[in-house]
Amino acid sequence: MLDGLTRLEYRGYDSAGVAIYSDGALKVAKAKGRLQVLSDLLEAGAAIHGTVGIGHTRWATHGAPSDINSHPQVSRSGKIAVVHNGIIENYSALKQFLESQGVPFTSETDTEVVAQLIEYFYDGDLLQAVGRVLHRIEGAYALGILCSDTPDQLIAVRRDSPLILGLGKGENFLASDVTAIIKHTRDVIYMDDGELAVLTRDGVQCYNHFLQPVDKEISHVDWEIDAAEKGGYEHFMFKEIMEQPEAVRRAIFPRIRDGEVVFEDFGLTDDYIREIRKIYIVACGSSYHVGMVGKYNLERILRIPVEVSLASEFRYREPIVDERTLVLVISQSGETLDTMAALREARRLGGKILSIVNVVGSSIARESDEVLYTWAGPEIAVATTKAYSTQLAVVDLLGLYFARRLGTMERAEYDQILQEMLLLPAQMEQVLERREDIQYYASQYFNHDSVFYIGRNLDYALGLEGSLKLKEISYIHSEAYASGELKHGTISLIEDGTLVVALATYGRLFEKAMSNVVEVKSRGADVLALTTESHRAEMAKLANGLVTIPDTNPMLLPSLGVIPMQLYAYYVALQRGCDIDKPRNLAKSVTVE
Ligand code: F6R
Repeated sequence: MLDGLTRLEYRGYDSAGVAIYSDGALKVAKAKGRLQVLSDLLEAGAAIHGTVGIGHTRWATHGAPSDINSHPQVSRSGKIAVVHNGIIENYSALKQFLESQGVPFTSETDTEVVAQLIEYFYDGDLLQAVGRVLHRIEGAYALGILCSDTPDQLIAVRRDSPLILGLGKGENFLASDVTAIIKHTRDVIYMDDGELAVLTRDGVQCYNHFLQPVDKEISHVDWEIDAAEKGGYEHFMFKEIMEQPEAVRRAIFPRIRDGEVVFEDFGLTDDYIREIRKIYIVACGSSYHVGMVGKYNLERILRIPVEVSLASEFRYREPIVDERTLVLVISQSGETLDTMAALREARRLGGKILSIVNVVGSSIARESDEVLYTWAGPEIAVATTKAYSTQLAVVDLLGLYFARRLGTMERAEYDQILQEMLLLPAQMEQVLERREDIQYYASQYFNHDSVFYIGRNLDYALGLEGSLKLKEISYIHSEAYASGELKHGTISLIEDGTLVVALATYGRLFEKAMSNVVEVKSRGADVLALTTESHRAEMAKLANGLVTIPDTNPMLLPSLGVIPMQLYAYYVALQRGCDIDKPRNLAKSVTVE
């Protein structure tokens, strides 16, 4: 269990705990802090013996990180233990009710309400008691439940929070991600919303919301355990940066056949595509930044209006969506709660949902009309890198696929872009090979406490991602600005020694980018510039530091340009001694609002 939890630590890591049935009772061990603290407490597992248990790594939502607020949460008699991901929204009313019935609470968590409520309804049939609780709790939850009266079984429940079941030989598992159990089995069941499961040593039975048995499909996971391990690299983030050429190759190559973009099992008909009047791209964080690149590229080649919206805004803004609106949902994890809620809102309004997702079988993938997987493999570092690159590649392929059906692109241009796409992995390798230059600049500038990223068009979209990467892992304040906006306010912040990362890869606007560099330099800024090889000489005259990427079709520039952005953030964070794979206050999969 400790090993499985290690692989889930990226989801949250402010405290951890286990409950194990041992010598006739539930033994619970919990500790604030990283999993290592719990592991030490348990003498790496040797301290408690047993064959059935539940464990959890927490990222606090209700109640500060503490030993007591860690999961498992246990009912008053100590009989029932619960681990929970998500939020019980009506926990306060339920807690009041239980307190009025004389039930004492020990923690500040919403989860304890679940454990106490199960015990309140429990009359010897755990499944029935859990069923009754589910009719009373509201919110998002994945639950693992263990009761000392029935130590041969575990109960799993899921609503709006990921949960999978792993089928072994003489052993079965529940986990919020395949990575936790892949060492033991590759046969998994993806639970659907509202479902429960009873796991015993010998089998797994799933039930619907009404506790009627349901048959579930067993899926086979085909990636290797190595894909979820560091393989000699110091950090997952670095490993994942280095994996990008291969990941992008996997995302692109099988989808270009005989000079055409091909999507297997793709249900959007040519007639439907010709009817699309508007495209919404909905996502959060870096996936949203992919959407920003997508907007520039798709509008240019399709001549269809494309609006990019943060999922957390989209869901509450009464968006204008109808059956001729294609809603493109982008998510690495496929579990981001805001993105999921936006998807449901778009569906309610009649839009068609096409999602671009990395995690196979994830909630967003399953609730979409159509899915294009990015095939990036498991991404462990909290800061996304290879998922971003593969999302970008798939959005570009989608644009080309549509352009062909809409007749908005000359055949020669289409052929040429496909050729250039096939070159991308090798060009990405070239950029990675020159990483020492970036490491050098990071060593020069790592102590600047405020950084501006400026660029226009695709370079602006790229700057947003560069800036996010830097701030999330190195804790340096940074902002991305559309260069043309500088003189509308931001330029007042530029003073002697301010670091400006000037993005100038987009050839059509190179001269404008140069003017902006002059503008900030004349106010004292130090400029680190990114441009293409063909513009190297010109930019070298102005910039304090310069990194170049190979020339390619403009549409594909961000796919190359993002690598120096990622490496810069990585090396700066390394210089500053930050916890790169697990930055403070962040979790990999944001399954709360
Ligand atoms: C940044 C990062 C986050 C995610 C965002 C969306 O490095 O990883 O900003 O991009 O939380 O997550 P997904 O793509 O899983 O929906």
